[in-house]
Amino acid sequence: MCGSLLPLFAVVLSGCFAAGDPEGSAHVDGSPPSKIAVVGAGIGGSATAHFLRQHFGPEVQVDVFEKAEVGGRLATVTVNHNDYESGGSIIHSLNLHMQEFVKQLGLKYRRSVAGKTAVFNGEEMILEETDWYLLDLFRLWWRYGISFIRLQMWVEEIMEKFMRIYKYQAHGYAFSTVEELLDSLGGSGFINMTRRPLSDSLLELGVSQRFIDEVIAPVTRVNYGQNVSIPAFIGAVSLASAQNNLWAVEGGNKLVCSGLLKMANANLLQAQVNTISPIQSGEALQYQLSYTSAAGTESELYDIVVLAAPLQTGVESGLHFQGFTSPFDQLPREYHSTVATIVHGYLNTSFFGFPDPRLFPFASVLTTEKPDLFFNSVASVCPVNISAGFRRKQPQEAGVYKVFSPQPLEKSELKTLFRSYYSVQVTEWKAYPHYGSNQGLPPVELHQNLYYLNGIEWAASAMEMSSVAAKNIALLAYHRWNRQTDMVDQKDLMHRIKTEL
Ligand SMILES: Cc1cc2nc3c(=O)[nH]c(=O)nc-3n(C[C@H](O)[C@H](O)[C@H](O)COP(=O)(O)OP(=O)(O)OC[C@H]3O[C@@H](n4cnc5c(N)ncnc54)[C@H](O)[C@@H]3O)c2cc1C
Ligand SMILES: *[C@@H]1O[C@H](CO)[C@@H](O)[C@H](O)[C@H]1NC(C)=O
Ligand SMILES: *[C@@H]1O[C@H](CO)[C@@H](O)[C@H](O)[C@H]1NC(C)=O
Ligand SMILES: *[C@@H]1O[C@H](CO)[C@@H](O)[C@H](O)[C@H]1NC(C)=O
Ligand SMILES: *[C@@H]1O[C@H](CO)[C@@H](O)[C@H](O)[C@H]1NC(C)=O
Repeated sequence: MCGSLLPLFAVVLSGCFAAGDPEGSAHVDGSPPSKIAVVGAGIGGSATAHFLRQHFGPEVQVDVFEKAEVGGRLATVTVNHNDYESGGSIIHSLNLHMQEFVKQLGLKYRRSVAGKTAVFNGEEMILEETDWYLLDLFRLWWRYGISFIRLQMWVEEIMEKFMRIYKYQAHGYAFSTVEELLDSLGGSGFINMTRRPLSDSLLELGVSQRFIDEVIAPVTRVNYGQNVSIPAFIGAVSLASAQNNLWAVEGGNKLVCSGLLKMANANLLQAQVNTISPIQSGEALQYQLSYTSAAGTESELYDIVVLAAPLQTGVESGLHFQGFTSPFDQLPREYHSTVATIVHGYLNTSFFGFPDPRLFPFASVLTTEKPDLFFNSVASVCPVNISAGFRRKQPQEAGVYKVFSPQPLEKSELKTLFRSYYSVQVTEWKAYPHYGSNQGLPPVELHQNLYYLNGIEWAASAMEMSSVAAKNIALLAYHRWNRQTDMVDQKDLMHRIKTEL
């Protein structure tokens, strides 16, 4: 499947939309936009800048506003002269946009270093990965019956449908809502999956409660800090990431963001956008952005604006809408707090029932849902640059570990998990949406030429999801500007694409 999709990329990158088409740029007066603003330089905003450049051509000015660091939730911390991912870290082998970025930017894949995983229930390890794959399969079989095969088929079917997006996007099709996008990939079944709990879908599939508690919950906890009540769609994304074919970017995932901005020839403005307001002058609609940088507060007019930062409850983004008739203040939603603590020290393997650290064979420990467990996971982590001679530290040696927890760890908790430590670095993330049930998905089009990227996180939050949304918004903005309605929200795309080829 993967092989058959890649040539389509070549098509879109080398032709169809690669440059602005002057004849196609038929806005009100036929002129192309002169200035576009992107708010946020995480992977979503950087990828948007890149795709906007592809579709609108070399003339348009693309300004990208970033109030903090380029990379956003892709960030690293330095421990002992090495950098470690503190935010988004792993990328699935079928994440084709991320792959394509890395290829175009001449970046490298980080070598993966094998390590075993176990599941801890607060008292003992209830699941231990061994060296012998067949033995693991037999154990799973013995413990959970056919649960895990059903699950694997379920995840694969969802992934396969999701992969359709790359074909649609390569052919230039865009969607005006996340619902339309999901519907085109997996019909109403996909939309329903964003509304019902993962546990319900799995039980219906015949997956046992025990499998859900002992395998699924630990995976959703490590990936999204939440339990099996998260919607089934995000659950499937989470489970796909429990497969083995994962990768990361050598030097740090955030290199993709700075690389894309550069390749897009975007203007990076180190500034916080404070307000956005629509300005109508005659026929022309523009948006005024007021922003604060080290140089003070200024404002600027744009033809198109893409918000590539989460609109959250509270003042997190510091962004205000002025003069719009529709109240976007209904949009902000709650994001989930996950704390990443990077510790350089000695793991207390006794805590996991291994008094002798030399006999502790695991690189990562996931946990089941237990009220008194204060962390979601702890894992030995590798630096973003892996030299040829690199090997993972043994548990009896001082190593670098990443702990995910819902709250910052108390000193007593650190002293329980680690025999001793040299350094502790804490990053408190508003990490991903706090997935309740039945909340619907935020709009993509907030206003005529004002788009919102991060609504897609409510279907699933991942680097690739932001990249898919970035491509969609660049296409949508292009088609809207040029009044190409036949490229937006088209039905039966699988069939249409076959006949187009
Ligand atoms: C701990 C953790 C682990 C994760 N693990 C994974 C993983 O393994 N794999 C995976 O695929 N995903 C993972 N994710 C999710 C992934 O990191 C995110 O989905 C993705 O990085 C979101 O990118 P974004 O560009 O959409 O948003 P962000 O990265 O949040 O970017 C938004 C940017 O906008 C800026 N900004 C906000 N407001 C303003 C303003 N008013 N003016 C100017 N700038 C503004 C912010 O500073 C920020 O840089 C993880 C996330 C966390 C936190
Ligand atoms: C999704 O939900 C709607 C409304 O509840 C229902 O009509 C539809 O059949 C469901 N789709 C699938 C594929 O289950
Ligand atoms: C999952 O957590 C939510 C709170 O975030 C809680 O309401 C729900 O009961 C929990 N579900 C399970 C199955 O533990
Ligand atoms: C880490 O890798 C990146 C990307 O390959 C490279 O640019 C950087 O120089 C490397 N850093 C070190 C310290 O080796
Ligand atoms: C390690 O874990 C054990 C078992 O939970 C605990 O008794 C001990 O206090 C912990 N800390 C150290 C430093 O060993």
